[in-house]
Amino acid sequence: MQRLDRFLSEAGVESRRKLKDVIRSGRVTVNGEICAAPDQKIDEQNDVVALDGQTIGRGDRRIVVMLHKPAGCVTAATDERYPTVMEYLPPEYKRLMPIGRLDMDTEGLLLFTNDGDLAHRLISPKRGIEKSYYAEHAGTADAGDVAAFAQGCVLKDGTKCLAAVLEPLGEGKSLVRVREGKYHQVRRMLASRGKPVSYLRRVSEGSLELGDLPAGMTRELTELEIAQLESVDFDEKFFKET
Ligand code: URA
Repeated sequence: MQRLDRFLSEAGVESRRKLKDVIRSGRVTVNGEICAAPDQKIDEQNDVVALDGQTIGRGDRRIVVMLHKPAGCVTAATDERYPTVMEYLPPEYKRLMPIGRLDMDTEGLLLFTNDGDLAHRLISPKRGIEKSYYAEHAGTADAGDVAAFAQGCVLKDGTKCLAAVLEPLGEGKSLVRVREGKYHQVRRMLASRGKPVSYLRRVSEGSLELGDLPAGMTRELTELEIAQLESVDFDEKFFKET
């Protein structure tokens, strides 16, 4: 169940403040009956909401959901051996697709959407959205590690990474910011500096922060948050070979 004004604002119809007047003026119907109360609770799965006679369906609107992925599940729709991230999605989100992936042992911010184009754009290497990871690892990161990350780490198999930011957070802890998503990238970058990772959590993606969302829980992004994610531009400076 959801407030009528919230449902309409998330559908991108108007801002919630303006919607209060729109609803009070009698332009909105729920199951064919005028509903003039912005705080009216509606069943967003089953009720038919219309504005000026036009149905606003949940299926019509773009949804982006953030999951705090726990460790021990794979980013896949199905898996024969392991639990999948889909098991943490409430029933109404089961048809969404993950945007990118996190390793089985990595926790943190993972997005899902029903908009395939959006998913494509957000994971495109050209966009290079910055992702931050909190890592616990052997040893303590020093100025040499910071410089190596800034120049672009060379992984043990010779793969060259783009420039990244390493912020040491004291003994055995660091924050890592990367703009690409190679296989096990952050673990391999720290391993290349002799600092194997024991714990990894993605804490942000672009302007979006995991915050205090508990592990295993989801929350829907607002239209504003989606627009901010989409507005990240390819930054040529960042991608210049060093
Ligand atoms: N880097 C990793 O090593 N693992 C992840 O899941 C994401 C980034």
